[in-house]
Amino acid sequence: MIRKIIQRKDVMVLNKLFPVIKRLLFALEPEYAHDLAMKGLHLLTRSNPYDPIICNPRECMGLIFKNPVGLAAGFDKNANYIHSLSGIGFGFIEVGTITPRPQKGNPRPRLFRLEKDEAIINRMGFNNDGMAVVAKRLERCNYSGILGVNIGKNKDTHNDKATEDYEACMTCLAPHADYFVINVSSPNTPGLRDLQEIKCLEKLLTSVQILQKRLQHTLKKPLPLVVKLAPDADLNQQTERLKLVRDLGLEGVVMSNTTVSRPALQGKQVEEKGGLSGAPLTALSSDMLKVAKQILGRKVALIASGGVMSSEDAMEKMAFGADLVQLYTGLVYRGPALVNEILTYLMEHQQACA
Ligand SMILES: Cc1cc2nc3c(=O)[nH]c(=O)nc-3n(C[C@H](O)[C@H](O)[C@H](O)COP(=O)(O)O)c2cc1C
Repeated sequence: MIRKIIQRKDVMVLNKLFPVIKRLLFALEPEYAHDLAMKGLHLLTRSNPYDPIICNPRECMGLIFKNPVGLAAGFDKNANYIHSLSGIGFGFIEVGTITPRPQKGNPRPRLFRLEKDEAIINRMGFNNDGMAVVAKRLERCNYSGILGVNIGKNKDTHNDKATEDYEACMTCLAPHADYFVINVSSPNTPGLRDLQEIKCLEKLLTSVQILQKRLQHTLKKPLPLVVKLAPDADLNQQTERLKLVRDLGLEGVVMSNTTVSRPALQGKQVEEKGGLSGAPLTALSSDMLKVAKQILGRKVALIASGGVMSSEDAMEKMAFGADLVQLYTGLVYRGPALVNEILTYLMEHQQACA
């Protein structure tokens, strides 16, 4: 017997209105539309209690996830809207990417919709308020789901000093984080992806693991470490990186970030520089996910990100070995109802994905 997921009334209204809201928002400049949508969501949900929907709960990386559908990094970079986003039903929310010092990111325009492709190209460049401001915000937030904190280095930090940036963010944000994502795969910070080169990656991950142990001891809580990888790598590179993650005993991998490749696209904005996400990324990131599963087995958690645009996409990622899935572009094109749709679908197919 399938139990129906109880949805909040305000979110149900929002889901009904989404086709109209989408048309209005898509008529606006994408970054402005995003900010406006978030403010609207905040107004709609602020006075009501929020809690992640409990559906298909699971233990992963030593943490209990109330459901396996999460928000991907970049959507709420500065942790301003955790409550509202939680109201949509996510089992976990990943904020960031956060850097030690605040930075403005790249000049606008830096976010492009490719409507016909159901895709986005972005070259935001880690625009964020910096770790101290975000830490204060998180201190005031009593969110009951799992909170991931995605961290990176400042644009003007040389790669030789990158480890210090990641460590500074961990130290500052650890009291508020349930897990950390070491982001070495965003394509919009020059040189960041070079940190995926095996020697650099080993040095970085080994250092942050030492700090992780210290923080876990001091804070008396688990603080799993996850690395987010790019889908733009050949099989040898990907295998090398994944074996390193496995051998170091990292807790998880996010597979994957956006791609700099341009599979056949119809959108006018195809020439724009930046990372591509959404439907054209689904297959590429799933291919990487399968490789990851083969190498990591059950030892390392797999968080699937990349082109989850439907319940079927989410289910397929789970079938390929994902423990959890994350949404970004799917939320833009399909609206908040997508979370509930996926959760219902997963519940109906519980046997297959348990
Ligand atoms: C506008 C935008 C900003 C993003 N910012 C970040 C970020 O700051 N850090 C990060 O790790 N990923 C970032 N991402 C990547 C997403 O977290 C996600 O991995 C990627 O978009 C693939 O998932 P999707 O196809 O569901 O969008 C961003 C994506 C978009 C579209």
